[in-house]
Amino acid sequence: MRNALLGSILTLAAGFTSFAQTASVNFDSATRVFRLDGGNMTYAFGVNQRGELQAIYWGGRLGATDVIPQAVPMMEWASFDDSYTTTPQEYAGWGAGLFVEPALKITFPDGNRDLVLHYESHTIGASGLDVVMKDIERPVFVTLHYVIDPDTGVLARSAAIENRGKESVTVEQAAAAAWSLPPAQYTLSYLTGRWAGEWTLNQEKLDAGARVIESRRGTTGHQANPWFALQAGDADENHGEVWFGALGWSGSWRMTFEHDQLDGVRITGGFNPFDFGYVLHAGEKLETPIFYGGYSRQGLGGASRLLHRFELTKILPRTAATASWPAPKVRPVIYNSWEATEMNVNEAGQIALAEKAAALGVDRFVMDDGWFGQRNTEHAGLGDWYVNPEKFPRGLKPLIDKVHSLGMDFGLWVEPEMVNPNSDLYRNHPDWVLNFPGRPRTEQRTQLVLNLARQDVRDYVFGFLDKLLTENDISFLKWDYNRNWSEPGWDQLPPNEQKAVYVAFIRNVYGILSELRQKHPNIEIESCSGGGGRVDLGILRYVDEVWPSDNTDPFDRLSQQDGFTHAYTPQIMMAWVTDSPHWLNHRTTSLSYRMLSSMQGSLGIGADISKWNDDQTATVKRLIAAYHQVQKTIVQGDLYRLISPLNGSEFSATQTVNQDRSQSVVFAFIHSTQEGRGFPILKLKGLDPSGQYAISSIEGKLRAGSPTTASGAWWMNHGMEMDPDFRGDFQAAAFRLDRK
Ligand code: GLA
Repeated sequence: MRNALLGSILTLAAGFTSFAQTASVNFDSATRVFRLDGGNMTYAFGVNQRGELQAIYWGGRLGATDVIPQAVPMMEWASFDDSYTTTPQEYAGWGAGLFVEPALKITFPDGNRDLVLHYESHTIGASGLDVVMKDIERPVFVTLHYVIDPDTGVLARSAAIENRGKESVTVEQAAAAAWSLPPAQYTLSYLTGRWAGEWTLNQEKLDAGARVIESRRGTTGHQANPWFALQAGDADENHGEVWFGALGWSGSWRMTFEHDQLDGVRITGGFNPFDFGYVLHAGEKLETPIFYGGYSRQGLGGASRLLHRFELTKILPRTAATASWPAPKVRPVIYNSWEATEMNVNEAGQIALAEKAAALGVDRFVMDDGWFGQRNTEHAGLGDWYVNPEKFPRGLKPLIDKVHSLGMDFGLWVEPEMVNPNSDLYRNHPDWVLNFPGRPRTEQRTQLVLNLARQDVRDYVFGFLDKLLTENDISFLKWDYNRNWSEPGWDQLPPNEQKAVYVAFIRNVYGILSELRQKHPNIEIESCSGGGGRVDLGILRYVDEVWPSDNTDPFDRLSQQDGFTHAYTPQIMMAWVTDSPHWLNHRTTSLSYRMLSSMQGSLGIGADISKWNDDQTATVKRLIAAYHQVQKTIVQGDLYRLISPLNGSEFSATQTVNQDRSQSVVFAFIHSTQEGRGFPILKLKGLDPSGQYAISSIEGKLRAGSPTTASGAWWMNHGMEMDPDFRGDFQAAAFRLDRK
C-alpha cells in the first residue's frame, strides 16, 4: 500500500565493499515529505502548509516502512518571533520577518529586499534529488541539489540561484545549505590554527547565540578549516551521536552555528557574505559550493572514519591508471629538498640528493622552490616560469633523466597564482594582480596575487603549466599558494559587479586543475599553502594530497595529525621526516621517533640526507621498507585514535585496520615519562574477534611473554602490553598485526 503513495523512488547500490548499504531517495506525495537514506543515515524534510521547505529529521537510519509525518510549522513565540523565524527551514530567503541566519539574501533593482521561497517542483534522477523553490512573486528560482552516498550516508547539498526575470538582481548572501537539529545539549568541535600551527582541535559547548567560523581571506585559510562536528550530550571519541559537515570551497567561506531562541540548532554555510555581492543578470545562475553532512553514532572516531571513507571513495581524483579503482593509489614516498637546500638548487646538488634518496627506497624526488626565473630569494622570480639558466644550464632534462634512472619519478614546485613585483611578468602586466586602482598594493612575502578571475590571467597560468608538463616528464606538482588576498579589486568589470571575484577566481583555480588533469591524465598534484592553508573538500576533488603544515617537528605533528584526521583522511596527509634539532622548536628527537611520527600519514623525507651516516641511512631504509608493506592499511584503513596526544597527554597512540580486517597497524608515542609510569595497555579496536592475529614489531618491543599470536578478542579485550623499558622522552614504537 505504502508504495502506492511514493511519487518516485531511486535506489543506488553501494560501490565499496565494506558498507553493504544502499541509498534511496523518495517523495511521499500524501505527506509531501522527501526522504533520503544512505549508509546508516536518514535525512528528511517536507513541504509545510504554507509551502515552505521545512527540515524534519537528520540522524540514524529509520526503518524502511516508517512513515515520517508531514512538516508542521512551529508556532510563533509571542509577537517577537513569528512562525517564519521559529520554523527550521531547509533554505530560507531573507524576508517576511526572518531573524535567524538566512540561506539567501537578494536585493532587487527597485530596492525590494524581501525574498520568501516556496516549493515549486522536484525531480528524482540518477544523480539524486533536485527541489525547485521560487519566490512567492518574483521570478527568482532556487534549485536545491541533494546527493546521498550509499556507503557512508554522507549527504552532498548545494543550491543554484537563478534569475529568470528581465532585470539584474544582486545576491548578497548565498549558503550552500542550512541544517537543523532539535533542542539538546551539543558540543561543537572545529579546527583552527595559524602558519606552522594548523589543526588545533577546539571543543566547546554550543550556547545561546551564534558561533561563526570563517575565512575572509579569499582562500580556505590556516586560521579556521571548513569542517565541524556537533556531539550530542556526552558523546566522545568512541561513543554517542555526532553530526558532522564540511564545505567544499577554497575561497572565503563561513559557517554559522546558531543555538536559536527555542534552543534548536541551525548550521548555515557557504560563500562568506562578508564583502559578497554577485550580480545575476537576466537568465543567469549562481551555483553554490557543496556542503557535505553526515551522521555517526560511534562518536568522533566513527564520524571521521565515515568522512575518510567518503573522501577516499567519492572525492579524491584518480589518475588515468587508477580511474576504475575504489580508492586512489597510495602516495609514493617522496624526498623533497626544501628544508635541506631552500632555494639553493642546482643540477649537481639535486642529483647528489637524488642518489642518496634512491638508496633509501624513496619513490619520488621533488624539487622545491628556486628552480625558475630569477628566484634566488623570495623577493624575485614568481611569475617567470622559465628554467633558471645559471642553476640548470642544460634545462631540467638531465636532472629528470637521472631521477628516472634511479628508479624514482619526478615532481616540481610551482606557485601559479602569484607574482613578485620584481619579475618580467609583473613588469609587463602590472594590471594582472588583484588591486584597487590608485591604492597601494599590499605585499606579503614580497608577492602579489594574480587575478585569476581574469580570462587572460587564467590563460597565462594554464598555458605555462601545460607547457611545463608537455615539455618535461613530470609526474607531480607541488602547487603552493603563499599569501592571502588584499585589495580584491577586479577593475575590468563595472563597479557593482567586481565582487564576483570571490567566485570567479576559485572557479578558475578548479577549472585549471581539472583541465590540466584531463590533458595530462597521469599528473598528481599536492595542495600546499604555506603548509595547510588550502585544505578543503573543494580542492580535494582536484588534488591527490596536501601539505598539512610547514611545521615538521615530529612531536608537534602528533597533535596536528590528530586534529587533521578529525576531518581528513591520512591518505592525503603528507608527513616529512626532517632534521633534528628542529628549526622551529629546537627540539631534539631520534630518527626513529621522527620516522614513526611521519609514518602515520603519507611518508616523505625532507631532511638534509647528504649529512646522514651509514647508521641513519640504514634505519630509514629499513623503516621505509616496513612502511611500504603496510602503507595501505595505515592511510586507507579505519583509523582509531586510541590515546589522544592533546591536553598535555604523556602518551598517545593510533591504530588503523584495513577494510577486510586482515591487517592492523599500531603506533605508540611517549612524550615524556613521569613518575615512572609505564605505557598503558592498548586495547585495540575494529579487529575480527574470532580471527587469529600474529603481531610483529616494526619498531620497539612488547612485554616479555606477550603472545605472538592471539585472537582479535584477545587484542581488543586483554590488549597489548609494551615492554616496561618503553619509557623516556620522545619515544616511539610501532607494531603490525596480520590475520592468519
Ligand atoms: C611554502 C611551502 C614550503 C616551501 C616554501 C617554498 O612555505 O609550504 O613547503 O615549498 O613555500 O618557498
